[in-house]
Amino acid sequence: MHLKTFLAFVGLLSPALAQRIVPGAYIAEIKGTNANGFLNKARTSGLKVRHRMTLNQETSIFNGISFDLEDDTPENRAKINSWGEVVELSPVRLYDASAPLAKHVTRDVTEVMRKRGAVDGPYGEYPPHIQGGVNRLHKEGFSGKGIKIAVIDTGIDYSHPSLGGGFGPGYKVSFGTDLVGDRYTGSNTPIPDADPIDCAGHGTHVAGIIAAVDKDFIGVAPEVTLGAYKVFGCPSVSAGNDVLISAFLQAQADGADLITASIGGPSGWTEDPWAKVVTRIVEAGTPCSIAAGNEGAQGLFYASGAADAIGAISIGSVNNLNAPAILTGARFSTGSVKDKDFGYTPGSGKFGSKSLEVYVPVVDGQISDVCAGLPADTPDLKGKLVVVRRGTCTFESKATAVVAKGSKDIMFVNNVPGVVSISVTAAGVAVGAITTESGDEWLKLALAKETITVTFDEKAPAIKTAFANPLSGGTMSVFSSWGPTNEMYQRPHVSAPGGNILSTYPLIFGGYAVLSGTSMATPYIAGVIGLYLEKAKKEGRKVTPAELRVGLSTTGRPLIFNDGTKNSTFLAPVAQQGAGIVDAYKFLHSKTSVDTELLEFNDTQHFHQSMSFKITNNGDKQATYKLTDISGATAYALKEGSTVPQQFPPTMLESYAQVNIVPNVLTIKPGQSKRVVVRVTPPAGLDTARLPVYGGWVNIASNGVDRLRIPYMGVAAIMKQATVTNFEQGFPVLSNFKSETDPVNSTVGARPTLDWSLVLGSGVVRVDVVSVSNPEGNDVPVFSDNTIGSIPGYPRYWNPRSQTYDDDVNSAVFSGRIVKKEGDPSIRVPAGTYKLVYRALKLTGRKGTGRDYERWESPAFIWS
Ligand SMILES: *[C@@H]1O[C@H](CO)[C@@H](O)[C@H](O)[C@H]1NC(C)=O
Ligand SMILES: *[C@@H]1O[C@H](CO)[C@@H](O)[C@H](O)[C@H]1NC(C)=O
Ligand SMILES: *[C@@H]1O[C@H](CO)[C@@H](O)[C@H](O)[C@H]1NC(C)=O
Repeated sequence: MHLKTFLAFVGLLSPALAQRIVPGAYIAEIKGTNANGFLNKARTSGLKVRHRMTLNQETSIFNGISFDLEDDTPENRAKINSWGEVVELSPVRLYDASAPLAKHVTRDVTEVMRKRGAVDGPYGEYPPHIQGGVNRLHKEGFSGKGIKIAVIDTGIDYSHPSLGGGFGPGYKVSFGTDLVGDRYTGSNTPIPDADPIDCAGHGTHVAGIIAAVDKDFIGVAPEVTLGAYKVFGCPSVSAGNDVLISAFLQAQADGADLITASIGGPSGWTEDPWAKVVTRIVEAGTPCSIAAGNEGAQGLFYASGAADAIGAISIGSVNNLNAPAILTGARFSTGSVKDKDFGYTPGSGKFGSKSLEVYVPVVDGQISDVCAGLPADTPDLKGKLVVVRRGTCTFESKATAVVAKGSKDIMFVNNVPGVVSISVTAAGVAVGAITTESGDEWLKLALAKETITVTFDEKAPAIKTAFANPLSGGTMSVFSSWGPTNEMYQRPHVSAPGGNILSTYPLIFGGYAVLSGTSMATPYIAGVIGLYLEKAKKEGRKVTPAELRVGLSTTGRPLIFNDGTKNSTFLAPVAQQGAGIVDAYKFLHSKTSVDTELLEFNDTQHFHQSMSFKITNNGDKQATYKLTDISGATAYALKEGSTVPQQFPPTMLESYAQVNIVPNVLTIKPGQSKRVVVRVTPPAGLDTARLPVYGGWVNIASNGVDRLRIPYMGVAAIMKQATVTNFEQGFPVLSNFKSETDPVNSTVGARPTLDWSLVLGSGVVRVDVVSVSNPEGNDVPVFSDNTIGSIPGYPRYWNPRSQTYDDDVNSAVFSGRIVKKEGDPSIRVPAGTYKLVYRALKLTGRKGTGRDYERWESPAFIWS
């Protein structure tokens, strides 16, 4: 597996949590009343409702309220629905900021910058700014001046000198608020206050990428003003979608020119209330940039909410070419060396403050990888720091070999350039990692029979350095989430530097940190949009969100595929990179434009035979355009012979669609437009059961100078034929029930529980109850079944696919109550024998068509 990124300083690959719901908390979109009217109605109806948030602004985008329903029963929800004022009642769901686990922080970055070869002026040729073309715009004087960007995040440490040193009018962080209070966890009631100071770190890092003015580096748009909308508490990185909706509405009402959020969670559907509000805000004219997600490990079809919202700009991550590194400092001494500093990356466990003698196992003149265990004649290693080379076998088996000889302290030596963060599960074992160079130095000393003693000191200063990243620099980060959505919309749109990014961090934690994630790529694009809006403002032009989406999606540069350690010979799939890496310079300066951001051909059943777009020549000279096809790799979503998605990296094929572009040469006068038609023939000879996703770019070159590329993609299969239920790994399954056929193994008086799990998203999952002992009682037809009704809470809509299949499971519990019709109160069932019927709607299937569902029937059980 290639799940560990090269130069991974942070545990950004921490598994994202499955989609979670706050029990008893709801968002109601309301009409004909306001939040107070709603609360009054609730009180006079005898409902115990606690107000969470009022979700509306002067702007009529959304009128709603979120609340806790104390007695959360279907009856009470039905009562609320019956008032006729509720447009939609949906549960409060939690979304996360990609939380860095390890904090590699420091107080000063001059040394890092010097080591990166920052030679050209005070800000140098800052590597990420070269990668995305921003440095050229800075040289032209673009700075984002006059543009307001709202950052929805953990707040901003505005006291940081590089972020202006204050909050309010006249400062860099000039607007915003704290919507939740420091104690908010995502589940409890938010307690807002006016001060959006950051106590977690994420938002300050994001803000610095957009707009820092530091003595050693600057943000992408250093003169924009920022709005800090704090939606997370201090220790927590979860926020309810009611809070997110409220923050977006408020940022829009405050006149933000752009709203950006490095927040997400598994979804792939455009129907979540947060995604819907984003769509409405975009339609009303305010662009929104949102992180594509850090779930690249999950493979294809894993789009994140609300980056999947219609109209949002979704952003993927590219690795930094030159990775800054902030290492934990320590020292070593030998007979010949006195107190020499070195840096390491801490992993699991803690070395604390202590001195240890170093043991270097050597095989064939090299530090051993201990994959064959340590030799029998190895001395007792108790109290020694054992040095082990990375590679060949897992870190776990290396740790086991070392622990078997009595040591509890391991220093891994990287076998590729740069540094890596390593964790093992063994209890009480501390691990760290050093570079190949540090390892070689120790090896030489060990071979010279010198005794090495390492001194760890928790208070030692950090070691600041930088590494060129020849293995995966300049390519997509392996953690960046892949599209398409469950409805075959491509996400991300465009990608930007997000892997190993140095930026500001709250002063209380040190002031600077290196973090990775699409969370870091998103503010980069937000800054680029700031520069674009500044230019348009100077030209007296109004910009629509669509213009930004199209511009960013068609001026990017497609990247070669990289699995985390090496470049391939083919371009990465559009499903992974969208347009590729942003080219900010071209985005601002292109003299040609098109009117589409993406050509999405859908699956072969809903296939678009042809798609067209318009090219406009905005220059002052006639131009001749040549249109050609550039193919990206085709990727299989599923494992071979399986219904289960492949984890990263998916199997990729150099098997391409045939693309027919008419006309493929055209001449356009200044200010004029012409239409082009594109037809694709999906690649042939593929294993369609594995859901091949193809794609590429329609390349538009004019006189060899200007150049746009429109990404196109589609699925070379019929999605409706794909299995969505995880039957393969034993789901659905009924447990905890009393059975007639197996009385010995029955659990008497238990609650039958149907566990279900999805290998692909499903728009509708139903669990209906059939009476076996009293067939006449089955008066509710559900397609081919006569049932008595549904388990309360079902059907469930817009279900994302499950993540790690064994513990990301949904449970439908039968507690003797059913609901006859959606929105009705639940009723008790008499004693008898019943069974449950599970149905999941296939992708592109119709809700009202029985054969578009997968069906599974449970064994009969006794309910008494
Ligand atoms: C891999 O490809 C990327 C993007 O095209 C490029 O920036 C990088 O230099 C390449 N790396 C190597 C080792 O060729
Ligand atoms: C693909 O087809 C399905 C079924 O008609 C539709 O719901 C979906 O929106 C389409 N997606 C795209 C990208 O056109
Ligand atoms: C009870 O379950 C066990 C394990 O699944 C099985 O071996 C056994 O045959 C079952 N007993 C009966 C009476 O069915």
